[in-house]
Amino acid sequence: MSTKFRRALIVTFVLLLAAAFAPAAHADQTSKAQPFIVGGHDVSIGDHPYVVYLVDGRDHQFCGGTLVEHDTVLTAAHCAAAVRPYELGVVAGRQDTRMADGIEAGVRSVWLAPGYQDPTAGNDIAVLKLDRSVPYRPARLPSGGDSDLYRPGTEAMVLGWGRLWEGGDKATELQGATVPVMSDSQCIQAYGSYEPDTMMCAGYPEGGVDACHGDSGGPLVVGDILVGIVSWGDGCAKPGKPGVYTRVATYSDHVESLLVRLRG
Ligand code: ARG
Repeated sequence: MSTKFRRALIVTFVLLLAAAFAPAAHADQTSKAQPFIVGGHDVSIGDHPYVVYLVDGRDHQFCGGTLVEHDTVLTAAHCAAAVRPYELGVVAGRQDTRMADGIEAGVRSVWLAPGYQDPTAGNDIAVLKLDRSVPYRPARLPSGGDSDLYRPGTEAMVLGWGRLWEGGDKATELQGATVPVMSDSQCIQAYGSYEPDTMMCAGYPEGGVDACHGDSGGPLVVGDILVGIVSWGDGCAKPGKPGVYTRVATYSDHVESLLVRLRG
């Protein structure tokens, strides 16, 4: 056997070996990725039936959302503006993005909050009217009497299919993490552009638990009440850099009257 041929044989063998082990190595990596959203855990969509995700024209998950009626979704304006409405899809009732269960709806109309320009400038909220009704229980909007929902220390849960760590893989199964609401003064300390009227922030001072890229538009809930919408942050789960959410209560009245109009 010529050395050249032998070398080629060895190279082929090594490549085959690598191919054989690659899937195992990958599986191992994903199983190590127990922390989710960042620092969360698997949650059942049955317990949070209002959580949906948005897909683009190629059917890729890119944001989250929340059913507030059987045919209406609240999401972030920066999510709704990222894709042309006719390419936008909403997937409801699906725990695992690799599956085909649940319902995929199209979007009939998109409303962006007036004044929305950029998440860090606030008003990062949008309403999507779906082209069909889905049979999953919607979340509630905060009302005037619910002001203590925003009290610092209130435990809220953020949900989504976004990255499991900064720059990491996206989750395939719905993830959830508990984060405490932070005080406005802490949020202002973290971010100069924080605006208490239209935003709220949540997380631990030491970081470690947070929403991440791909979670945008998704819900921050206290019980079944939608208190926040994942909007922005500096990286994910960094100490001193909490997640910033759209303060839904600020928009409740506006959204409610829009829902009435959309129903008619
Ligand atoms: N803007 C990001 C997205 O497109 C999510 C930002 C949330 N970041 C955070 N650290 N909480 O999904």
